Amino acid sequence: MKIRKGNRKDIPVLAKLIASLEPWAAYGVNYERAKYILTNMRDQIYVAEQEGKMVGFITLRGYGMGEFGAYIRMLAVKEAYKRQGIGKALMNYACKVLKPYGRNVFCVCNVKNQAACAFVESYGFLRVGIMEDLYQKGYDEALYRKTIP
Ligand SMILES: CC(C)(COP(=O)(O)OP(=O)(O)OC[C@H]1O[C@@H](n2cnc3c(N)ncnc32)[C@H](O)[C@@H]1OP(=O)(O)O)[C@@H](O)C(=O)NCCC(=O)NCCS
Repeated sequence: MKIRKGNRKDIPVLAKLIASLEPWAAYGVNYERAKYILTNMRDQIYVAEQEGKMVGFITLRGYGMGEFGAYIRMLAVKEAYKRQGIGKALMNYACKVLKPYGRNVFCVCNVKNQAACAFVESYGFLRVGIMEDLYQKGYDEALYRKTIP
């Protein structure tokens, strides 16, 4: 598995993956919306590949939380490649890239997204608190923080 910087050519493939996944589909993020988000976000994108095919990606922003630290906005692994360490490898890569931006990395997971919450907690993120109705009424999001050693 190889991790490389993403570029505009990756956007259609990444948008297809985003639109197929529950956390975003629940917010009405379809293929067109996903393409719009990826095209307009200021975050860096990193893509995990196996045999030349995208199997997952992560997006991050150095000062995404201002002086408090960095923000990881999106992370996803294709269904068939889950539980093979790809999410962890993308996180490891992200934390290395983000180290110069300060000691804290933050991310947000929907509290009902048990896989994502279990994943970030297994990676050492601590839940700061719950932000009720953050994007939409009825959708509570957990804010997580990890201090990079
Ligand atoms: C969350 C996600 C990125 C994890 O990716 P992954 O490549 O499957 O994760 P890894 O294989 O690196 O898992 C590392 C550890 O995280 C934990 N973990 C991962 N998925 C889990 C699950 N479904 N249930 C419980 N623990 C889980 C485990 O401790 C796992 O170690 P183990 O497999 O040795 O037990 C993936 O499930 C995904 O793409 N989900 C849909 C998109 C999403 O929800 N993104 C996050 C939005 S904030």
